Amino acid sequence: MQEDNFETLAIRLQAERTQFKEHSVPLYLTSSYKFDDAEEMRALFANEKEGNVYSRYANPNTDELINKMAVLEGAENGWATASGMAAIFTTFAAFLQSGDHVLSSRSVFGSTHQLLNNIFPKWGISYTYADLDKPKQWEDGIKPNTKIIFVETPSNPGIDIIDLEWLCNLARKHEIMVVVDNCFATPYLQQPIKYGADISIHSATKFIDGQGRTLGGIILGSNKLIKEIEGFARHSGPAMSPFNAWLLSKSLETLAVRMDRHCESALKVARFLETQENVQRVMYPFLESHPQYEIAKKQMKQGGGIVTLVVHGGVEAASLFMDKLKMFSISANLGDTRSIATHPATSTHSKLTEEQRLEVGIEQGTIRLSIGLEHIDDIIADIKQALS
Ligand SMILES: Cc1ncc(COP(=O)(O)O)c(C=O)c1O
Repeated sequence: MQEDNFETLAIRLQAERTQFKEHSVPLYLTSSYKFDDAEEMRALFANEKEGNVYSRYANPNTDELINKMAVLEGAENGWATASGMAAIFTTFAAFLQSGDHVLSSRSVFGSTHQLLNNIFPKWGISYTYADLDKPKQWEDGIKPNTKIIFVETPSNPGIDIIDLEWLCNLARKHEIMVVVDNCFATPYLQQPIKYGADISIHSATKFIDGQGRTLGGIILGSNKLIKEIEGFARHSGPAMSPFNAWLLSKSLETLAVRMDRHCESALKVARFLETQENVQRVMYPFLESHPQYEIAKKQMKQGGGIVTLVVHGGVEAASLFMDKLKMFSISANLGDTRSIATHPATSTHSKLTEEQRLEVGIEQGTIRLSIGLEHIDDIIADIKQALS
């Protein structure tokens, strides 16, 4: 057995068996843990002894999930949160203080925009946006008080890409921390820490669960940085539930095979869409027409499961297309077994102004397709009849 192969690790890295010798790791539904005596309680609270105290801090199921994710992504350690947004918020809150500045990719998930635009400024934290395809904006955007560079690559929903190695080198020169939202790629397709990122974040709600069942977030990084995350998260309470951790750890066992199929089908869909006259533009990292195709090839194993298109005819045409889809679900989620169509301008990014949306490349005719695991012929047939 090649124990360093992704697929094998994702399956075989399990928590220790209990006295019942179960083959599949059980679910530990307990809010707290018993101490042998008063001295053990004191030692655990004083961090003089390792062990479980309370499930807001740690639990065997979250430990297993974190351990697997850290190994799969090449990180030393991690922390699990209730959702992807809790992971992003926790990371910002753990490292930023009043007076700090964040340099972020302009094209980020709608709720991340809300944090940067409306929530953190109330606490004296400022931001600048830079476009993923314009290196000079990143160089110019760094200020003496820039504490974090935050980047989503590929971005949601624009599928823009930045060269992680280049960005991390730039950040290192200025001693700025790089945080990457790795949600679209998963550890199977891209490992930002290997390119020099300090923190990699996942919305495990997406491809990691992969079946649209649960919310979850993961933060991965060095022992030192995760200790700081822990210092904030233990007391502020964004913890992932043991049940979700159990589910997500099991989901990781099939991540590689699922991602292979998502990617294979998504590339076929992207190529098909490029031939359709109703389609104005198609964005997919592994299409030769993608402006950052070479960078995508360098840092991603495959192109991922999301294809974004712009239809001619604006919001009316986009709504008509979505309504005519017979098999695709209309939903705000992605990374599911079921193919999903989303209209970002009226859903995930509806809180942005029209001008802000255009800046991040979201037009009224933009549609995000999450390509599921149904038969490719059925996926393409559904898109074809809806486009016609
Ligand atoms: C790129 C990206 N990051 C973060 C999130 C937030 O994750 P969650 O919904 O698990 O809070 C999402 C959700 O769609 C996302 O697409």
